[in-house]
Amino acid sequence: IGRHTAKPGRRDKDPFSLTVTGTLALSVFTAVLGSLQFGYNIGVINAPQKIIEADYNATWVHRYGEPISSRTLTTLWSLSVAIFSVGGMMSSFTVGVVSEWLGRRKAMLINNMFAFIGGGLMGMAKLCRSFEMMILGRFVIGAYCGLASGLVPMYVGEIAPTSLRGALGTLHQLAIVTGILIAQILGLESLLGSEDLWPVLVGVTVLPTVLQMGLLPFCPESPRFLYIIRCQEHHAKSLRRLTGRQEVGDMLAEMKEEKRRMDMERKVSIPELFRSTMYRQPIAIAILLQLSQQLSGINAIFYYSTSIFQKAGVQSPVYATIGAGVVNCAFTVVSLFLVERMGRRTLHMLGLSGMCGCAVVMTVALSLLDSVPWMSYISMLAIFGFVAFFEVGPGPIPWFFVAELFSQGPRPAAMAVAGFANWTANFIIGFGFQYVAELCGPYVFLIFAALLLFFLVFTFFRVPETRGKTFDQISSGFGHASPDIMDMELDKPSTELDYLGAEGSLN
Ligand code: GLC
Repeated sequence: IGRHTAKPGRRDKDPFSLTVTGTLALSVFTAVLGSLQFGYNIGVINAPQKIIEADYNATWVHRYGEPISSRTLTTLWSLSVAIFSVGGMMSSFTVGVVSEWLGRRKAMLINNMFAFIGGGLMGMAKLCRSFEMMILGRFVIGAYCGLASGLVPMYVGEIAPTSLRGALGTLHQLAIVTGILIAQILGLESLLGSEDLWPVLVGVTVLPTVLQMGLLPFCPESPRFLYIIRCQEHHAKSLRRLTGRQEVGDMLAEMKEEKRRMDMERKVSIPELFRSTMYRQPIAIAILLQLSQQLSGINAIFYYSTSIFQKAGVQSPVYATIGAGVVNCAFTVVSLFLVERMGRRTLHMLGLSGMCGCAVVMTVALSLLDSVPWMSYISMLAIFGFVAFFEVGPGPIPWFFVAELFSQGPRPAAMAVAGFANWTANFIIGFGFQYVAELCGPYVFLIFAALLLFFLVFTFFRVPETRGKTFDQISSGFGHASPDIMDMELDKPSTELDYLGAEGSLN
């Protein structure tokens, strides 16, 4: 991918434009094992909903001698689904502090503790006849995923060569969608989604944890973290391992420039991100991009697609869910190859507009379902299209875009805020969707269509292109310009925004 990505003129000047070494590949692979678990736990509660609900009912009968009311069951189930995001919300807020304190690599290592506890609680819930354990386990595994969702893109973004930062950043999302698909397949009743085996289904999440713990010691710490934050000299060794080059002077110079700039700034705390005029604009963009990902309604599909397909009259809803998972993976791969050619901004807008169109088609199809039976096929295709467009842009891009928008100093705080925004919106959808769907019937996706339109307009007017630029160039685009000039620049609907003074730091 590397050879064809950045624009030629830019690439010659780009000291980070290199091929992928074994160490870089190993480090990215190891890191995204965390993302795999994130995806697995998103997808895992979809197919076996009815079977686990039946167990909740059995527990209720065992305790209280009567069947559970349908209202209580909906609440317990919505809670089991959505408490995952509460765990994510809480832990993602600590990403900044944790990653600065322990370093990126050790933070990922220690985070695995949550996966063991969460997986263990969920895996034992049936045996202990306790839906409370299942709910608590979902909370703890959510906490694991919240940290992973910040640490992985941060680490990958920091060790990636500039010209591959988007493509490698997309691997975080690719691992998420692979995790979702694995969960959907294993969740089939003929595999692990059965009455007896569902505890194994929710417990196997600890397997990638073991693999990651075995591999992390062989991965170098982020050289940017070592040098710019910790001022440690052995960052050069990490850099040589990652790039496979002995001569890394040009890269060190780029980092030195970023460090020099950072040393002039005060340390950036979360409140400061909002107070400083320099960061206000990028943090607003970061938050809105995350909201555009979640409020697009994608997790209404990934948490509840089996019942959505059922209502849409699809004959094998579980297989349709797997179909959505396959489309999801396939289009993430498409995005992986497009992101360094077409840029983040264009792909994000393409994805949002496609999703908006599919949401409208879905609504029409669902509302005509009673009179026109074949509309069930149209609604299924519309859902597949919705998922495909999501993965072209709104799926992968917000995750790594935040790491790109900020330099080393404010990055951890910004990742924490953005992650928190993402998880909060994830929670709102996970918890609220079923209720709103009951209220709005076939029109529920029109709400998402309206939101998607809003985010499209926002992206068009406010989001800059970051492809092929070093972190320093990107942040100097926000930092060096006076706010007024920056406003004008960001308003410009160009595909490649040339930042003021952007080339300066490399020459
Ligand atoms: C993104 C979202 C996640 C969603 C997934 C679907 O990673 O953050 O919430 O479930 O995409 O592929």
